[in-house]
Amino acid sequence: MDNFTPVDGALHAEGVSLSTIADAVGTPVYVYSTAAFQRHARAFRDGLTGAGVTRIHLAYAIKANPNLAVLRVLANEGYGADVVSGGEMMRALAGGVPAKDIVFSGVGKTREELTAALDAGIGQFNLELEEEGEVLAALAHARGIRAPATLRVNPDVDAGTHAKISTGRKENKFGVPIDQAVEMYGRLAELDGLALHGIAIHIGSQLLDLAPLETAYRRIGALIAELRKFGHFITRVDLGGGLGVIYKAGDVPPSAADYGAMVARVTRDWDVELMFEPGRLIAANAGVLLTKVIWVKPGVINPYVIVDAAMNDLARPALYDAWHDFVAVRPNGGRMTANIAGPVCESGDTFAMGREIDEVHSGDLAVFRGAGAYGATMASTYNSRALVPEVLVDGDRFAVVADRIQPETILAAERLPDWLKG
Ligand code: LLP
Repeated sequence: MDNFTPVDGALHAEGVSLSTIADAVGTPVYVYSTAAFQRHARAFRDGLTGAGVTRIHLAYAIKANPNLAVLRVLANEGYGADVVSGGEMMRALAGGVPAKDIVFSGVGKTREELTAALDAGIGQFNLELEEEGEVLAALAHARGIRAPATLRVNPDVDAGTHAKISTGRKENKFGVPIDQAVEMYGRLAELDGLALHGIAIHIGSQLLDLAPLETAYRRIGALIAELRKFGHFITRVDLGGGLGVIYKAGDVPPSAADYGAMVARVTRDWDVELMFEPGRLIAANAGVLLTKVIWVKPGVINPYVIVDAAMNDLARPALYDAWHDFVAVRPNGGRMTANIAGPVCESGDTFAMGREIDEVHSGDLAVFRGAGAYGATMASTYNSRALVPEVLVDGDRFAVVADRIQPETILAAERLPDWLKG
């Protein structure tokens, strides 16, 4: 099922033609489908509950797509939020996520962020190192409260994904080494200002195989048993996010049902509330980046299709060699082999090389698919380009849910020091 399908030969987002959005808002622009967000959110939950995993807390990893309207759609689906900065926490609250349903992850939470999160009354801190736990405990104690927390453990598992999005090997910066977890947990559990109630992990993103997750979860199961032997009350385990999605024909990510079945099997005897932090699987295929072909430039080997979206709008191909399908909004039936690139002055601003695509000409509209996660949120204004806007579609209506921030607005925040004036 897909919410970006052709109607009378022209690609639509749900009931709205992408040409209509391009005419109204211009390009490049991210376009999201409300129905897709809802379907993905429900499918993930159903995969778990269908397998009998029912004591769950779902916290959408908002880094994947933190647009306010997206957060509201997911809050309405009963999703909490996994946040990794004070800014994300502010967004989650503004989006309508109750503070108690917010989990704060991240290896570099500042003292200011810890304080703000305590004051907001968030539901859980995932601690990344012992000193963070001590600081958080002191801050909470000074307020006469106990901060609800888990200890994030690094299970030393190779998730089998791109190195830049792998987080669960011992050399990665995340979590505390699993072989030090019991002792550290014991020390942190003594602190007055902490209500330490479990373990968290997250081993990486775009995982196409359940085996590394299962290995990691089994290690956590053994750790829980060990901690209980020492008398600790383990009531929550946060299993992180990471499930992959289909970007390209041939990608076969685990289904929500397969994942649910694995979780049910591995966690059967844990007797805890399980938490999940899915990001990509909720957002990736709920969005496209709509772009216009500026030129088709003859090349030595293949022509370059130069589009008005660039690496500053969608960084994933440049950063991770990621694949995003490219399809014409009004395909003419022809095919061509081309390179696809943006206008930014770097060779890395290339979305695809030697790819067979719909035939396009200058002025045609096209989309990069699978762009709803880690797309707009990673955009920048490099080359003094505008910050890309976002549109949310719901049935046959649409709204601009993030403005295009023009270079003049960005320039207005800069100033000359006195000595350079005049
Ligand atoms: N929880 C934690 C602690 C995380 O670090 C992440 C992602 C997630 C949950 C969500 O993972 P997901 O379900 O989306 O795989 N910019 C990269 C992805 C970075 C992911 C970072 N952490 C990309 O575009 O591929």
